[in-house]
Amino acid sequence: MTLNLVPFVSVDSMMKLVLHLGIERVMVDLVAEIEADFRRWPMFDKTPRIASHSDVGVIELMPTSDGQTYGFKYVNGHPANMKRGLQTVTAFGLLADVETGYPVLLSEMTILTALRTAATSAMAAKWLAPKGSRVMALIGNGAQAEFQALAFKAVCGIQEVRLYDLDPAATAKCVRNLAGRGLRTVACRTAEEAILGAEIVTTVTADKACATILTDNMVGSGVHINAVGGDCPGKTELHRDILLRSGIFVEFPPQTRVEDEIQQLDPDHPVTELWQVIAGQAAGRNSAEQITLFDSVGFAIEDFAALRYVAGKVKGTEFCEMLDMIADPDDPRDLFGMVLRAAA
Ligand SMILES: NC(=O)c1ccc[n+]([C@@H]2O[C@H](COP(=O)([O-])OP(=O)(O)OC[C@H]3O[C@@H](n4cnc5c(N)ncnc54)[C@H](O)[C@@H]3O)[C@@H](O)[C@H]2O)c1
Repeated sequence: MTLNLVPFVSVDSMMKLVLHLGIERVMVDLVAEIEADFRRWPMFDKTPRIASHSDVGVIELMPTSDGQTYGFKYVNGHPANMKRGLQTVTAFGLLADVETGYPVLLSEMTILTALRTAATSAMAAKWLAPKGSRVMALIGNGAQAEFQALAFKAVCGIQEVRLYDLDPAATAKCVRNLAGRGLRTVACRTAEEAILGAEIVTTVTADKACATILTDNMVGSGVHINAVGGDCPGKTELHRDILLRSGIFVEFPPQTRVEDEIQQLDPDHPVTELWQVIAGQAAGRNSAEQITLFDSVGFAIEDFAALRYVAGKVKGTEFCEMLDMIADPDDPRDLFGMVLRAAA
């Protein structure tokens, strides 16, 4: 056995894997994986992520386990990074065998986080958005944006994305990257213009503050809001009044109540857990007029599902390399001897 060797998926391999499979297929596959894990939600060990905050950002660990496999993700959120030429969000993650504790996969997760976040957003919209939605406003056109657009095209049938960002260069980048992918893109000069005619509104901006990307008067009845960018204490995107008019759907309340849009509400404000809708235990949208809000924060089970998907795809392929990561002496008590023998 070569338990010391752990499959490692580099950024280069992840990009090649995604291009090999096709990005829209990956989105559809990830929705199926995440949905399957949401259906068995009670089986998982769950804890709010462990966050280390600073003035400029946050570094978080996101662990979970289904009793057979354990997973965690390291992820940061640094809104000022972009101006320094760095990613706002970077990540990597690991899966391990619960039986032995030995790692079974190490993977980049900066790209995988963008994929799983977009897939989770589209999955929520599949259950909550008005049926037959074709137009989505996409406010915040940074690193996550194209992934969101393509997930909604592949999973929900969105045909038009109306783009807005404070920085027109970000919108131009999005229009360029989405060209030729079967989506109509409309570059807008204001958020108000972006939401015109949109059945779904995605906010995916980055600002370490309580921003107001959407004000109450901008949101008409029947709209589905996919609020992705607010995901830290003191970092929100929606005016509180919108929340008071919406049916609110969340991933894991103990995490969401601290980190997401609903941090603006009373701690006992009613919310519905998305997994319960998917498992048939709670109702989704209750009328054509209801505003539904997926208050997305990102939860460990989504990363776990994404990592397991990747593990299944890369096993025995050129999309991973084997890392000599775990000291595994033949005599388990002779760790020291193994070090000495390395000199020979
Ligand atoms: N919920 C989740 O699971 C999840 C997962 C990943 C990222 N995120 C969050 O999503 C957000 C976006 O991430 P990213 O990697 O795309 O960041 P990014 O820095 O690459 O892009 C953010 C964009 O938002 C724009 N922006 C900032 N304030 C704005 C405003 N008021 N109006 C319009 N546009 C504005 C910026 O100009 C930038 O182009 C971050 O806040 C990140 O923390 C959430």
